[in-house]
Amino acid sequence: MKIAVLKEQADGERRVAATPETVKKFIALGAEMAVESGAGLTASIADADYEAAGATMGGRADMLAGADAVLGVQGPDPASLHGMKPGALVVAALNPFGERARVDAYAGAGLEALAMEFMPRITRAQSMDILSSQSNLAGYKAVLDAAAEYGRAFPMMMTAAGTISAARLFVMGVGVAGLQAIATARRLGAVVSATDVRAATREQIESLGAKAIFVENVAGIEGEGAGGYATEMSDEYKAAQAELVSAHIAKQDIVITTALIPGRPAPRLISDAQVASMKPGSVIVDLAVEQGGNVEGAVAGEVVELHGVKIVGHRNVPSRLAADASALYSRNLYNFLSAFWDGEAKCVVLPDDDEIVQGVRLTRNGSVVHERLG
Ligand code: NAI
Repeated sequence: MKIAVLKEQADGERRVAATPETVKKFIALGAEMAVESGAGLTASIADADYEAAGATMGGRADMLAGADAVLGVQGPDPASLHGMKPGALVVAALNPFGERARVDAYAGAGLEALAMEFMPRITRAQSMDILSSQSNLAGYKAVLDAAAEYGRAFPMMMTAAGTISAARLFVMGVGVAGLQAIATARRLGAVVSATDVRAATREQIESLGAKAIFVENVAGIEGEGAGGYATEMSDEYKAAQAELVSAHIAKQDIVITTALIPGRPAPRLISDAQVASMKPGSVIVDLAVEQGGNVEGAVAGEVVELHGVKIVGHRNVPSRLAADASALYSRNLYNFLSAFWDGEAKCVVLPDDDEIVQGVRLTRNGSVVHERLG
């Protein structure tokens, strides 16, 4: 099986879908690895490191010629995928709802597209879950980005010149990114509080030493929510949440928002009036900015200042930690493909009745086959 690894083409994408470590592991399984020249440079991986791991390096067309699979971080442009075998696999974060035309084009080209962000949230697939591995790093980086924009220190400091008080930091949305944001902010010495709509997060917040701020008078989502995910909340819940958050936010120095609802725009959690209620010099980081934003006024790709408050809206935050993000992402892909490796035939075999395969497979034999893309 020939597996091609491409240099990412999307603006600002610094990650790469295989590292020398995973190249070596695929070769140990019996795969042939073909890596486009320069693919790892933005993630601090030199071509020579891939070569030392056993990969063939070269131009895109040569790498794709006769390939049985192509690995990407973002979905590769279908027009650029000439020369692959019929039925070849395209394995990447394919953004199926946002890039539907691209999915149709993979189908039209006879490719089998596998959307890694559709990985089911089951124990067996944990090591293959790109949303978790990338969100974890995004949560960490969001806190550092906030610290960099904040004109004060995070920890309380008692100095000869007097005391500096600790920063108050509030995390909204306590999934994978939010949990890591809480842990990182605690390590930096901030006084941390957090909220979510899923009741199961209360204990997680408290176990990290943060204060849980929850709507008490209207029911949220019991337990983890379906598949660990939230749904859109009722108007009554939203009103109660807005009131609770208004009182709390005005006392915070930093707010990190991470709230997402799969397949829908991000919920609006902070209004312009709430931004205005914060002290000048406060910082908000909106990790959901590319999905429509949790914060009114946040702009994707920019740091804006409104009412004296900085609102940070970096795009593609995992890519800001490209080396580690690539290392984890690449292992996710290896864990996925190696789980379906046929040792005799030395290739990936994806059984139709497998829950993971059904979860990620978008196209097959010229058609779009995923139930969520009907
Ligand atoms: P996500 O990225 O979809 O959403 C982030 C957070 O925002 C979630 O905690 C969600 O409840 C929250 N949220 C949504 N609407 C909100 C609102 N209006 N107000 C406040 N918060 C709101 O979630 P993520 O990080 O992808 O994962 C959520 C959970 O899924 C994890 O905590 C974990 O329990 C589970 N999970 C399970 C995995 C597995 O078993 N393989 C892998 C990854 C996560």
